[in-house]
Amino acid sequence: MSTTLPALTPLEDSLFLTLYARALDNRRPQPILGDAMADQIVRTLDYDFGQLHVDTNLVLNVALRARKLDQVASAFLARHPDAVGLDLGAGLDTRFERLAPPATVDWYDVDFPAVAAARRRLIPEHSNAHVIGADVTEKDGLDTIPTDRPAIIVADGLMGFLTHDELVSLWNRLIGHFPSGEIVFNSYTRFAIWVARHARGTKSVADLVKFPGMDDAREPEGWNPELQLVREILLSREPEVAQFPPAWRRYHRLAAHSTAWSRTGTIVLPYRF
Ligand SMILES: C[S@@+](CC[C@H](N)C(=O)[O-])C[C@H]1O[C@@H](n2cnc3c(N)ncnc32)[C@H](O)[C@@H]1O
Repeated sequence: MSTTLPALTPLEDSLFLTLYARALDNRRPQPILGDAMADQIVRTLDYDFGQLHVDTNLVLNVALRARKLDQVASAFLARHPDAVGLDLGAGLDTRFERLAPPATVDWYDVDFPAVAAARRRLIPEHSNAHVIGADVTEKDGLDTIPTDRPAIIVADGLMGFLTHDELVSLWNRLIGHFPSGEIVFNSYTRFAIWVARHARGTKSVADLVKFPGMDDAREPEGWNPELQLVREILLSREPEVAQFPPAWRRYHRLAAHSTAWSRTGTIVLPYRF
């Protein structure tokens, strides 16, 4: 039976782009992420995914960045089985299912109330997975999350939709909320933001992009003295590129020779605090 969701705002609607990209990755002969539940949700929804014009580049980037974010989160949870996990701007992502954390971890998926309602309809419940309907730029949006446990905070595809000041203020509130933790997100250089505004595959979100881009991964260390860059993950240099279709594999292997060139693509940045 197909599910029709109430109309979402264009910003909320951006979740379909990444959800569909993960579903298409799952349908590739050699998936990068292999998120069968994303595929299942897409098949359930009464939504015209074709009009999004999701291309191979977006599929590969969305799948690989999700995999890298998952790896950082998974390593953190292995070290801190008492942690809380947050997925900010979670959309309909099934990260909790992919990570399958132990029952000692409490996981919070945060997105606008309408998206939170859609999650509750479409994604199976777990006693330690919680959905919060809130705007992450609002000061009290995350107040119900425990403050006495280490936190792994993931933001996949959110950063581009926040202004620089909103992002700095959000990070500072998170650092003040938890005793310690890691924040990991996919970042964009100024050039990547320009591409996102002009590429066909991201046309549906072009007018919603507010972040100017960040060329220096160490910049957030200046936002809060507790923030420390762990490493810069340049997707072109990651081993999964071997599973890309030949033309994309050749492009990324060439790009991998140059740090500047690799930075024009997708970057995943983990910080500890
Ligand atoms: C491109 S989608 C990514 C969704 C999900 N992380 C994924 O990878 O599929 C961006 C998400 O961020 C959410 N979002 C954007 N701004 C937000 C805000 N201020 N507060 C809460 N959620 C926000 C949108 O509703 C949308 O679900």
